[in-house]
Amino acid sequence: MWAVRPLNGSWRGKTPFSDSDIREALLGTLEPLSEARTKPGERRVSARRGRVGEENDFFSILLGAETMDRIVLTGGVPLRGDVEISGAKNATLPILASTILGGGECVITNVPRVVDVVTMGKLLGILGAKVHHEGNRAVINAEVITSTQAPYDLVKTMRASVLVLGPLLARWGEATVSMPGGCAIGSRPVNLHLAGLAKMGAEVSIEHGYIRAKAKRLMGAQIYCDTPTVTGTENLMMAASLAQGTTVIENAAKEPEIADLANFLVKRGARIVGAGSDVITIEGVRELHGSDHDVIPDRIETGTYLVAGAITRGAVTLNRCCPSHLDALLMKLREAGVEVEAEKERIHLNAAARLKGIDIRTLPYPGFPTDMQAQMVALMTAAEGTSVITETVFESRFMHVEELRRMGADIKVEGNRAVVTGPTKLAGAPVMASDLRASAGLVLAGLAAEGTTEILRVYHLDRGYERMEEKLRGLGAAITRHKEGAAPAETC
Ligand code: EPU
Repeated sequence: MWAVRPLNGSWRGKTPFSDSDIREALLGTLEPLSEARTKPGERRVSARRGRVGEENDFFSILLGAETMDRIVLTGGVPLRGDVEISGAKNATLPILASTILGGGECVITNVPRVVDVVTMGKLLGILGAKVHHEGNRAVINAEVITSTQAPYDLVKTMRASVLVLGPLLARWGEATVSMPGGCAIGSRPVNLHLAGLAKMGAEVSIEHGYIRAKAKRLMGAQIYCDTPTVTGTENLMMAASLAQGTTVIENAAKEPEIADLANFLVKRGARIVGAGSDVITIEGVRELHGSDHDVIPDRIETGTYLVAGAITRGAVTLNRCCPSHLDALLMKLREAGVEVEAEKERIHLNAAARLKGIDIRTLPYPGFPTDMQAQMVALMTAAEGTSVITETVFESRFMHVEELRRMGADIKVEGNRAVVTGPTKLAGAPVMASDLRASAGLVLAGLAAEGTTEILRVYHLDRGYERMEEKLRGLGAAITRHKEGAAPAETC
């Protein structure tokens, strides 16, 4: 058990820890735990000494993982063989955040070992939860928490940290969460998260870059989301699980990760109906208990390896995936001339035939995922004819296009559309990754290119792809990682 010392003794009405306290705590010896919360409104004094990492190997992984590594790959090898798909990053993050909604041990399996998951573990540790992470299993106990603050230093490295807002507020009556800032893929406001919580009776304000929310007990409410928001729906669903009365979220996001979170919460005693559809009804309960949960497969990782097979004109089999979460992508790949055969938990892909240019429009689920847009832009450079890829979810998610052009791609960006003319034989070049999925698009382009491609800033990739080089090497790719210095912290 560990914690940092509250500033100037007093807890209530003050920000408990400064960012420099948190930074110091993450890197060095910690002060004794001074105050811990056992139940909402109740305090407990404890004084055990500890060091970060004794109970939580998340920290050591993270500190080792934040590097400016480069990936060097030589393209032109058709990928062949099998690849195992990891658990979904975007399901794991809200599931881990939701553990603080109640006491009892939560054992989460199929957890991908990626930096964003490590960051969420680190955040839960800062809040005072006990977090153990071994292999692909995480055990969390949030019986006691010591802080209701998600500090700037962490949130700025991962905007999904905002997922602790709803759970903290619902169970502990208050939350202070650094306001997520800008991001490489465009403006990403959290106004719908905040408006929903306010509708449930919370007092919400923004002070000095922090979201501050307070509520004695949240009240059930009728909430309409102006646009379907994934983490917004998750935050509100988690908060409503402990509210008094019934909450209905209309125009909710329908992503499979939301249904997975709801399944976990229901196992813990929550009453949720309709998750995965656009109307979710939550009847609040007094408390949630611990439970086990196996995270769903990562549909975006699955899609990325499908495109890796397609762009190299290879033949790959993806195991332990969920094809029914990928209907739009599978249909688009078939339209482009790729043979795709789906079984219950496996997909076979064969891309021997010529690729045809197709049009794609990103949309909220079940539409074509924005998280597969960069990969499909890369694929379309190898397809015959003109492809128009329209991005409707985020306002500026085409940073990979400039880098692809440096590899010889013929792509014009007109507003929210990328017009790709192909086929182009890409030429290997040094390129710079700008966000997680853009990095994946560049890796795929490098796999198809003639010669050597060097990808800089691969820490973006490490945020969301587990053992990517190892998995690609297993399919025959000539890919290596070169270790470099420490990476800057950037939000996305
Ligand atoms: N939006 C608002 N107001 C809000 C919230 C969202 O206007 O309060 C808008 C956004 O600006 C955007 C749209 O709604 O135009 C959809 O954004 P959403 O809130 O759904 O995105 P998110 O929850 O921040 C999640 C994923 C992203 C993925 C998007 C869209 C997680 C942790 N992140 O983000 O994943 O791109 O949904 O599917 O689940 C990634 O994994 O690389 C990634 C970026």
